[in-house]
Amino acid sequence: MYIVQIASECAPVIKAGGLGDVVYGLSRELENQGHCVELILPKYDCMRYDHIWGLHDAYRDLYVPWFDGWVHCSVYCGWVHGRVCFFIEPHSEDFYFDRGVYYGCDDDNMRFAFFSKAALEFLLQSNKRPDVIHCHDWQTGLVPVMLFEIYKYHGMANQRVCYTIHNFKHQGFAGTQVLEAVQLRRPEYYFSYDKLRDNFNPFSINFMKGGIVYANAVTTVSPHHAWEARHTDVSYGLGHTLEVHQDKFSGILNGLDYGFWNPENDRYLPYHYSAETFDQKAYNKKALRERLLLEDSDKPIVCFIGRLDDQKGVHLVHHSIYYALERGAQYVLLGSATESSIDKWFRHEKEFLNNNPDCHIELGFNEELSHLIYAGADMIVVPSNFEPCGLTQVISLKYGTVPIVRGVGGLINTVFDHDYDQNHLPEERNGFVFYDKDNYALESAMGRAFDLWGQNRQVFNQLAIQGMKYDYSWTESAKEYAELYNNIRHK
Ligand code: ADP
Ligand code: GLC
Repeated sequence: MYIVQIASECAPVIKAGGLGDVVYGLSRELENQGHCVELILPKYDCMRYDHIWGLHDAYRDLYVPWFDGWVHCSVYCGWVHGRVCFFIEPHSEDFYFDRGVYYGCDDDNMRFAFFSKAALEFLLQSNKRPDVIHCHDWQTGLVPVMLFEIYKYHGMANQRVCYTIHNFKHQGFAGTQVLEAVQLRRPEYYFSYDKLRDNFNPFSINFMKGGIVYANAVTTVSPHHAWEARHTDVSYGLGHTLEVHQDKFSGILNGLDYGFWNPENDRYLPYHYSAETFDQKAYNKKALRERLLLEDSDKPIVCFIGRLDDQKGVHLVHHSIYYALERGAQYVLLGSATESSIDKWFRHEKEFLNNNPDCHIELGFNEELSHLIYAGADMIVVPSNFEPCGLTQVISLKYGTVPIVRGVGGLINTVFDHDYDQNHLPEERNGFVFYDKDNYALESAMGRAFDLWGQNRQVFNQLAIQGMKYDYSWTESAKEYAELYNNIRHK
């Protein structure tokens, strides 16, 4: 099959979170399974250009229809660790991706509506006719809408779209002028509740809703989150839309690219190890302590790695630091914050806590350091409010770092409680799970982990090794996507 992925991130060149990991890892595995995959991305100035090989301008003149005129773009082509990627660069300041950041600009909705339009226009003008277009999250929600309302009539009637929702919290809202911009000519037709009109804000169109309504298949990134999205409040107002389109909605668990995330050959680790050589993990712990100036001792290291966003349960993350220190553990936090109040809060905590030889707070995005933390820590806390899939717990499992997670979304599909899980044999369990969204529940799970560490280190290490043996690679999940692509292709 010929598949084109359209997305706003692709690891390791453009990555704010798990979306980047998924777009890269899924593409790689689909190729391994014999499919032809190409990616289309914006050409940001702040990409990691050192991970792109052979970048050259492949299409110098792409003219993208926009309002009543055209925007001149160039399309660059390069290889990201073997994946063919096309990068779209508009020659108009309005839509520049040269902002020093990927997201967070006031005109994000217009920038990504433009990117979606340009991606389709590129396929059209370069005569690329993939069997399936796979697009991701709100940034590309207008792709299926435009494909079926415009491009279908320009020789793209055989293309099918799979739309994957990684995060319902960010849906992409805009006024109806965006419809005029992308040349969806009859605004009153699209601006209805069964199409793009937002379920709550009657003045707004909703990109993600458009994606759900128009795509041939809609997925989210774990089976449990697919259930939650329809039956609880985690779809942020899209529950009704999912109900109407339930026949084409499903959850496919994200995989992890073990080509990149593997302690046996991780390029960022000073010492390599596997489940068979678990003892060697201790050398990375020592290296982590040296790098972050933590005191040398027999204490366990607890970590958190992630975006410091309300989604991640920041109050519980904060509490986990103090509880760990109180219980005689060490703590390392690597967090990137976008909401300024959270940023300020953790900056303040950092000043205070980094004087403690048992604690280190590092703010910002740091890929290299994240690998050393996964390898050097003994436990990770993931106390999310909601978590469509979550990759940090899956990475931790591979690195023998025991996850302590809140039982939501994909966390439930991947972590099985050491003491309580009834569906898994003791030798299949791999972490600790709590459910309530409060400090007591968090403490009870962390407390069980600390007790096991203190009272029976052998069993604790065995639990970590059991986690390392889990196979959360892309092999099975990519097959599920390929099967889904095949189904929509033949409809
Ligand atoms: P989300 O996509 O919601 O941010 P995931 O758990 O799916 O959460 O994926 C997070 C990905 O981003 C993981 O690869 C994690 O290691 C990485 N990551 C998150 N925050 C940071 C950070 N501050 N520095 C380095 N890597 C980070
Ligand atoms: C989202 C979700 C996260 C998921 C990731 C990749 O950003 O928050 O749970 O793992 O996308 O699908």
